[in-house]
Amino acid sequence: MNNKNTDWKESVIYQIYPRSFQDSNGDGVGDLKGIISRLPYLEELGVNMIWLCPVYDSPNDDNGYDIRDYFSIMKEFGTIEHMLELINEAKKRNISIIMDLVANHTSDEHPWFLESRSKKDSDKRNWYIWKPEKNGKEPTNWESIFGGSAWEYDKATKEYYLHAFSKKQPDLNWENPEVREAIYFIMNWWLDKGIAGFRLDAITFLKKNQQYPELVTIENRPYSPASNVWLNQPGIMEFLQEMKERVLKPRGVVTVAEAPGVPVNMVKEYLDEENGVFNMIFQFDHTEVDIKDMNRGQLRQWKLTEFKDALSQWQMETEDFGWMALFLENHDSVRSVSKYGNDKEYRIEASKMLASYYMLMRGTPFIYQGQEIGMTNCVFNNIDEYKDVDSHNLYRIECLNGKNKSEIMNYLSKRGRDHGRTPMQWDKSHMAGFTSGSPWIKVNPNYETINVEQALIDENSILNYYKKLIKLRKENKALIYGSYKDIFKTSNEIGGYVRSYEKEKWVVICNFTDHEVNITEIGEEYLVLSNYKNNEKTNLKAYESRIYKVPVNARRNLT
Ligand code: GLC
Ligand code: CA
Repeated sequence: MNNKNTDWKESVIYQIYPRSFQDSNGDGVGDLKGIISRLPYLEELGVNMIWLCPVYDSPNDDNGYDIRDYFSIMKEFGTIEHMLELINEAKKRNISIIMDLVANHTSDEHPWFLESRSKKDSDKRNWYIWKPEKNGKEPTNWESIFGGSAWEYDKATKEYYLHAFSKKQPDLNWENPEVREAIYFIMNWWLDKGIAGFRLDAITFLKKNQQYPELVTIENRPYSPASNVWLNQPGIMEFLQEMKERVLKPRGVVTVAEAPGVPVNMVKEYLDEENGVFNMIFQFDHTEVDIKDMNRGQLRQWKLTEFKDALSQWQMETEDFGWMALFLENHDSVRSVSKYGNDKEYRIEASKMLASYYMLMRGTPFIYQGQEIGMTNCVFNNIDEYKDVDSHNLYRIECLNGKNKSEIMNYLSKRGRDHGRTPMQWDKSHMAGFTSGSPWIKVNPNYETINVEQALIDENSILNYYKKLIKLRKENKALIYGSYKDIFKTSNEIGGYVRSYEKEKWVVICNFTDHEVNITEIGEEYLVLSNYKNNEKTNLKAYESRIYKVPVNARRNLT
């Protein structure tokens, strides 16, 4: 079971959001049997690892990120037997599974929390973070990531508990060694079941500022709250190093950590292959270009250079010691083609271009379900069509603040997490082949044209392009281990980079606009893959991408 090699570097990982992937029994909710039935599809695609979002028993306030029992499976998803079957069936196809580990918080319905809240002298009181009121108010003015105070008053014992996310997700107290032991036990228990490792949810939140300081306010609202009090706080490494010593290192576990709040110059502590703690991290600089430094609920204009720099700086910083997780989408994000490309007349070209751009960088590519067929954002006509607790909180609070409803809906149309959660579009039959019943969340009406069945038939589909990219990466070590150098750095139209390895240079060039852009000639003879059939030497068409393999001794000026 030991996984001490670095196969994960050569892997392509597919992220599944079980609720929306495939329903097998018509109740409108995706499930484990549904996933098992789609393993042949994933094998065909060429992925060799799955990141499975939480499948544990949960009251689903935050779709499984609020865990009630770490050792059993959510009823709607199936049973522990189904989970073991999934692990085994996947293994037969050389696909391993990493599970989502939610260690920062549990559900408020978890027995630990029920016990903790029951009385002040409960054995488990200190498993969560309880504080008395301060001057008749919350203990601090910290704001939850999902809006509103991060403290919830509990009548029974007249104290407040801390919740970084929803009030049904109380934060565990990592200062307490018993809590840490309990989490290590859970990790080992699941590793014994044959999983390859974990995606560590919200892991940079574990350490809270022990001073519990009041935050500076601007216009009565805490300013930049999270980074000051609970993100990547001094001392967090003691917890993470302990986790490494106790579980990660001895078991040779594959790890990818969700790591908001880690600045690029601190990433060595996390990723250093000797002394760091995780194999890979997700950073969000590139996906947050549209909300950088803004208040919750507000968007900003951004330039292509910001997006490219956000990716490049992590590429360059980690080159000597670590490895990145490469991604454009996940279950918390909108669809990449809608955000960074064009989901109308150039949907196919733009989807392929974006795939070429991020998948051949240095790191392990993650593909989020549906991304490989170019699924797009969905039109949600009213707030009730959204299901996400985060979107509902935002809507409620912004309405109270007097914000115009259409402005809030506009924000959600650009940031709402449900765009990534509409059901997977398998075919053009009832509900996109996702369910025979009625789905828990709206199916994107464009499923009749955008679906897997169609993509399998069409040799020029986005899906088939993804397959080509995956194969290309598998067959060329340069695309995995090569060094990275960006080119066109100051361009707001084109993005690209060079990967160098032994006697090869690979050049990736992408047009991020819907118009033609001139480039200098590289040499047709070196072109390996493009999203257009006919390429003009010095002219990139709308959203055109090209991948070249150039021998080092070629007389070309490649920066
Ligand atoms: C992570 C998850 C997100 C969840 C949050 C709280 O950010 O990706 O879906 O809401 O943690 O667990
Ligand atoms: Ca089901």
